[in-house]
Formats: sequence, C-alpha cells, structure tokens
Amino acid sequence: MNNLTDYTKSNRVHWNARTAVNAASAARYDIEGLKAGKSTLTPIEHEELRDLPGKSLLHLQCHFGLDTLSLARLGAHVTGVDFSEDAIAIAERLSQETGLNARFLCSDIYGLPQVLEDTFDIVFTSGGVLFWLSDLDRWAKIIAHFLKPGGVLYLQEEHPFLNVFDDAADVTDLHTRYPYFHTEQPLKIEGLLPYSDPATDQRTVEYVWSYSFSDILNALIGAGLRLDYLHEFSHGGNRRFPFMAQGEDGRWRWNDATNNIPLTFSLQATKV
Ligand SMILES: C[S@@+](CC[C@H](N)C(=O)[O-])C[C@H]1O[C@@H](n2cnc3c(N)ncnc32)[C@H](O)[C@@H]1O
Repeated sequence: MNNLTDYTKSNRVHWNARTAVNAASAARYDIEGLKAGKSTLTPIEHEELRDLPGKSLLHLQCHFGLDTLSLARLGAHVTGVDFSEDAIAIAERLSQETGLNARFLCSDIYGLPQVLEDTFDIVFTSGGVLFWLSDLDRWAKIIAHFLKPGGVLYLQEEHPFLNVFDDAADVTDLHTRYPYFHTEQPLKIEGLLPYSDPATDQRTVEYVWSYSFSDILNALIGAGLRLDYLHEFSHGGNRRFPFMAQGEDGRWRWNDATNNIPLTFSLQATKV
C-alpha cells in the first residue's frame, strides 16, 4: 500500500491493534457462531438484503470477514477489502475453516482501483465505516467505479447525528461534544478503550472525520447513484453510550425513551 497519508497509516496501526481485541471478544464478534452456521448480519440487513444468491458482492471495510462470510453463506460471490493486514489474515483463515468461499484483499479503499479490476452487482459496507474516510466524494466515486450498470450500493451505518454526542465511557447524560459538520482536518481521538472489550486497557490514537447526512447523500448523488430508499432506526448494533440497554433481539436502545433520536440508518442506491 503506497501513498498512504500519515492519518491513514496511524489508523491502520489502530485497527491492527484492535483486530486482536475484537477477535477475542465472543460477545461482540461471534466467530464460533459463524463456524456453527450462524450469521453475523444485523436483522436490518437480513430484512433489506434480498436476492443474494449468485450475485457478485464487494464488501468494503470488511474487518476480519464475519459479515463477508455470512453474505457468502447466503449465496453471494464475495470479495472483502480492508486495509488491516491482521484483519485480512484472520478473514482468510476463517474462510478456510468454515469452507465458505471468499476472496479477501488487503487494500486502502482509495488505492483499490489500482489492485482490483472486477465490477460487481452489489457493494456492501456497514457498521462503523464512514468516519474513517478522509474524502467521501472520492469514496462514492470508487463505489460507482466498482458497480456494474444497474448494480446497487447497500450501506448500513450509525446515524451521523450521533457523532455530535460525548460517548466517553463515563458520561451520564446526552450532551454535545463534537462537530456535526465536516472539517477537512480530522478529529484526533486519544485513549478510547476498545468498544468490543472495554476491560482491555488498549489505548490508541484514532483520526476520524464527521460527515453530515447531506454530505453522505450528495456524495452518492454526485457519483451518479440514484437513491432507492433511506431508512432510520431507533436501535443499533453497539452500546455507543453507557445509558443504553440491550433487548432480547441483541439490539441496543436508549434507556430513556425521551431520547427519541435515531441510532442507525440504511440506504440503497443504484448505479443508473
Ligand atoms: C468498525 S470496522 C467495520 C467493520 C464491520 N462492520 C465489523 O464490525 O466487523 C471498520 C473497518 O474499517 C477498516 N478501515 C478503516 N479505514 C480504512 C481504509 N481507509 N481503507 C480500508 N479499510 C479501512 C478498518 O480496518 C476496520 O476493519
């Protein structure tokens, strides 16, 4: 991977370190469940992603491949991409161990057109992906580049409005701390404990970028994609704030129902 910015190099160090912690966290990353035949996709993804058998699918920011392999189990021909060498090594091992066929590539998203020639029916990306990206317009153009005409992007992500709130481990109420609108310079976040296992005292540096909802939609429109739907949900996949409770369905919701703020959104957009 050539031409990485210092921010990207630093984030790759962060993600290589976090990969080991995440892979050891059975509560958040159910490796044994995947091996036993379960899916790690969210209920939203199961509901919205229909018609996968036989489709070629590119999974961007696939981490160590649990969702990629779950998509393969549903019949898609999958390629997973991530810039963490450690994550891709685990993904390849899991593909062999489960017998689920998948191709994994270690690449920065912005360098992907230099190392991958194929086009796809579906580009899939979800669950904590956008704030690692330094340039959303370029990201959307890369998605359009890899889609066949008529192919679709499926994106499920934490709601961008959540990024304004203080999500430190010791907060007791909802108050704003971070900007909503995008700035070219990333936010430097130091000392956050791993979300998959806060008992692991691994403190790294993260450089992240905030994007407004209009930034996300306009990036896709600007890349020539047509929005098919946009959905917002009152539940999420992570305990993003301490004052959340997990339901029997495994999803996290606000303890206080007056926090009537969306936690997740999903969208589909077509390359016309
Ligand atoms: C929160 S994970 C999301 C993955 C998936 N939803 C999950 O929970 O397993 C974010 C992933 O983005 C990857 N990533 C961050 N910046 C990237 C970049 N510029 N190019 C490729 N991958 C990147 C990280 O290595 C990490 O695996």
